[in-house]
Amino acid sequence: MKAHLITYGCQMNEYDTHLVQSQLVSFGAQIVDSVDEADFVLINTCAVRGKPVDKVRSVLGTLRKLKAERPLVIGMMGCLAQLEEGQQIARKFEVDVLLGPGSLLDIGKALESNERFWGLQFKDELHDHIPPPPVGKLQAHLTIMRGCDHHCTYCIVPTTRGPQVSRHPDQILRELDMQLAAGVQEVTLLGQNVNAYGVDGGAKLAGYPSFADLLRLVGRSGIQRIKFTTSHPMNFTEDVAAAMAETPAVCEFVHLPVQSGSNRVLRRMAREYTREEYLHHIANIRKHIPNAVLATDIIVGFPGETEADFEETLSLYDEVGYDSAYMFAYSARPGTPSYKHFEDLPREVKVERLTRLIAKQKDWSARKNAAHVGSIQEVLLRGDAFSEGFLEGHTRGNHPTVVPKVLGITGAGVHRVRINQATPHMMYGNLIDANGENLPEVPRFAPEAAALVSPLQMA
Ligand code: 5AD
Ligand code: SF4
Repeated sequence: MKAHLITYGCQMNEYDTHLVQSQLVSFGAQIVDSVDEADFVLINTCAVRGKPVDKVRSVLGTLRKLKAERPLVIGMMGCLAQLEEGQQIARKFEVDVLLGPGSLLDIGKALESNERFWGLQFKDELHDHIPPPPVGKLQAHLTIMRGCDHHCTYCIVPTTRGPQVSRHPDQILRELDMQLAAGVQEVTLLGQNVNAYGVDGGAKLAGYPSFADLLRLVGRSGIQRIKFTTSHPMNFTEDVAAAMAETPAVCEFVHLPVQSGSNRVLRRMAREYTREEYLHHIANIRKHIPNAVLATDIIVGFPGETEADFEETLSLYDEVGYDSAYMFAYSARPGTPSYKHFEDLPREVKVERLTRLIAKQKDWSARKNAAHVGSIQEVLLRGDAFSEGFLEGHTRGNHPTVVPKVLGITGAGVHRVRINQATPHMMYGNLIDANGENLPEVPRFAPEAAALVSPLQMA
């Protein structure tokens, strides 16, 4: 069998795609890069907003046409698959295999089945399952928990991914050891709310460390870099900031979604913290990690959000001075409390506010990135950049960074870079040696010269 997987959504979905891909390989499937080569196409879906759902609909439309022309098995997994909305879509587009986020290990059974296979249960076996490490990759994800115990009124995730279940620390450390042995240098610990690790359904689990202690444990494994996502401010403790500061491998990067700067909106979102409490966490992070890089998620146009509420979000942005932000217009999702109880704002209001927020984010990101010009950063280079003659990677603070190739460095690994230019989205620099001197660059083919060579001459 030749299988092709398409992934939408968050890093948890990327991890799950890898998990299912490795299961497929263990059943003898070959993973291919395009739909055209595949006889099984599996879409890993996201349900958090309307847009990713629309995308899935459109891809399924194309696949249904293909299926009318040649043998093709269509599969849908992930968050949308778990919802009635997703199941209706699956029926309409003749999906053969449907796996909710708790049933991923049913993929084997699904392949054996000669008829339509739908798996929608939350199965415990998933928490003990250790997928093989990624091959030839320096970065890996590691799921430390699944599901979420919070009930933010806009969010479909508690329905799609179920209540929070933390993985046992032994499983986490075993998976990490395998990743390390495979050459992984940066691990991102994943969960809907990593700060609540080890406290499922409000009860502390015996034998599980706190998230801060888990960071310390992972920090002793020998891995070079540790990142984590995502944090709910409600469960963020000062001990997490302390653990970050005292564990050299933990990168000084915090993604702390605020969603809104207005207490009135936060209450209607059921976020369980106030603006003041959120700012207190930020102050604690800065106290322990003065050079912390801060990112957030913000929803604009939540039902009932007034212009004054929105201005509080803008002022909170200025008060924190985020390095980056993921910004969304509120999307009313069937099955969420806010969909049921609140009236959606007009689209124009949401779009206008989003545009103003994006302008603010660009301005701050430009200033924050410009402040790094002249600094020396540790960049995890992945390999060739889009432009020939350059390598790309990212800093400990998650800034995408591009450097010219130098003699003797092929690209993979952590290297010292002096930043000499920055835009809101990208930093540019030079690889340097231990004395801070620029390493000798590989001579580049000048673009002006390239323009003089016709394609015929090149052939
Ligand atoms: N509408 C818009 N954005 C949403 N998010 C979650 N649910 C919704 C929704 N209904 C955003 C939040 C969350 C991120 C993953 O997606 O900002 O942090
Ligand atoms: Fe990830 Fe949430 Fe989308 Fe599910 S709904 S894929 S958990 S972002």
